[in-house]
Amino acid sequence: MGKEYEQRGIEAWFDTVRPVIENLARFADVACWQIGDLAATGSQFIEPTMAYSVQMFIAVGMRPIWTRIWEKQGMNFGIGPYHLVSNKPVQQYEYLAAFAAALGDDTGGEPPELREYGFLCAFAAGQYRFVRRLTQAERRAWGYAGIWHINTVAENKDHPAMFPLEIPERCIRMHSDACDIILDPFSGAGTTIIAAERQGRRCCAVELSPGYCDVAVERWQRMTGLQAVLEGSGALFGEQSRHAGEPATSGTFGRDERG
Ligand SMILES: C[S@@+](CC[C@H](N)C(=O)[O-])C[C@H]1O[C@@H](n2cnc3c(N)ncnc32)[C@H](O)[C@@H]1O
Repeated sequence: MGKEYEQRGIEAWFDTVRPVIENLARFADVACWQIGDLAATGSQFIEPTMAYSVQMFIAVGMRPIWTRIWEKQGMNFGIGPYHLVSNKPVQQYEYLAAFAAALGDDTGGEPPELREYGFLCAFAAGQYRFVRRLTQAERRAWGYAGIWHINTVAENKDHPAMFPLEIPERCIRMHSDACDIILDPFSGAGTTIIAAERQGRRCCAVELSPGYCDVAVERWQRMTGLQAVLEGSGALFGEQSRHAGEPATSGTFGRDERG
């Protein structure tokens, strides 16, 4: 989540993330979460933000159904001066996890096999929906893997922390069906929007920075060949100028294929 919490401390991070997790618990069947620990704390301690995230999800009734490591490929992880002075290990990886409602919650009478995740039996293996959605080739290539070796996206003029497309795309493939709604509350340059579009899902995205919203809309327009329209006014993208300091902007992407 950028550099703000490196300047304002971990409380700012909690203030941002906790309400998002609370809302995910109210509305999402499954929440996929990606984060690296915060090492640049100005002290000998780190802030284990994935561990904090797990605690916050559990506090609102969601438990992890899987955890993984994204081992970042394609970067030169030589020993930099920061690591020489701090002795903190080089951050060659980030954590990934998926959370679902804790078992025993009121399901409104829905049988477990119809829910996104429900306990079937300890050895249910391939019966789970998130396993059955993958092809055998996908399961072999990455579906069973605890470590995903995926290239990083080089820092670029569009966004300093763009994620590789494969990460949201794999999560979307596992945990949703055609036309489902995917939410990214920290959308950045819109990688999840692109992944959802490629997989035939609809995407709702929220981003604080108007500039990154523009980048995301431009990426979506380039990919689809379509023209984005501002909900409410009906203005075409580009017709309405944006200004720094506007409140968080959200948008809905994707064609509604139900007609
Ligand atoms: C790590 S980046 C996400 C990158 C994104 N996955 C991509 O591939 O482009 C996190 C984003 O969250 C945004 N952000 C931070 N606080 C926010 C908030 N309170 N509401 C909405 N977006 C926020 C930042 O502006 C930043 O673009």
